[in-house]
Amino acid sequence: VSQRDVVRREFSRQAASFDAAGSLFRDTSILDWIASHVTITQGARIVDVAGGTGQLGRYLAGDASTVVIVDLTEAMLATGLRSALEDGCDNVVFVRGDATALPFPDAEFDVVVSRFALHHIEDPAAAVTEMARVCRADGSVTLIDMLAGGLRHDELERLRDPSHAQALTQDQLEAFLTAAGRAPRRAAQHEQTLPVDRWLAQAQTHDLSRETIRDALIAEADGGPATGLRSARSDDQLTITQRWLLIGD
Ligand SMILES: C[S@@+](CC[C@H](N)C(=O)[O-])C[C@H]1O[C@@H](n2cnc3c(N)ncnc32)[C@H](O)[C@@H]1O
Repeated sequence: VSQRDVVRREFSRQAASFDAAGSLFRDTSILDWIASHVTITQGARIVDVAGGTGQLGRYLAGDASTVVIVDLTEAMLATGLRSALEDGCDNVVFVRGDATALPFPDAEFDVVVSRFALHHIEDPAAAVTEMARVCRADGSVTLIDMLAGGLRHDELERLRDPSHAQALTQDQLEAFLTAAGRAPRRAAQHEQTLPVDRWLAQAQTHDLSRETIRDALIAEADGGPATGLRSARSDDQLTITQRWLLIGD
């Protein structure tokens, strides 16, 4: 089974939860944080790579001429298309494709964004190279992803969602952009605290894995070994805190 098969299997299961009420991916405080770091000029052509149901691309679509959401998983695209039609979006297009072999000509877009996707991709450097290729020289490439928190972090993320490949460091993300010819000029970090139940529900985590993850997080919150997810307990609520990075040229 290839990594792409695992991605398609997991995100076919998760598709409905992306556009549901309470979805992390629809959270406007997170979308506002990203939008404040991405300049969209009137008439821009935008591509949201591994864009899933297109929550980010749709949020940025206001001044754009076209927003293309490209993703590997048909169920994600179909869910996004339904929501976009319901919302009356008339400048958003959904396309099936692989981030490491984008089905677009060189320099097709003014704005390239990709959120929470590189950690699902076996060869994230190849995906960044593709994003740079399809972006005009005077356009921008912006990557948003969680930052690596060590081996245990990746293990627990993979238990939560088997399509997690590896979280990346800021140095790796900078190196991918630089190697692709896009000097990173913008970087911002965001600390996101999440209730563990909401985080597990978002990925539709299987019951057995859910228990293992909760046990590790509770042990950490009670002074046990670090998980890289910085768990804490307050008022009967168990939380984790992820560090997210936005980086671009
Ligand atoms: C966590 S979701 C994020 C979706 C979207 N970027 C967002 O932030 O709302 C990860 C997405 O990456 C997609 N994906 C993973 N590997 C991919 C690849 N090689 N090419 C295209 N899409 C991919 C999955 O299908 C899934 O929709």
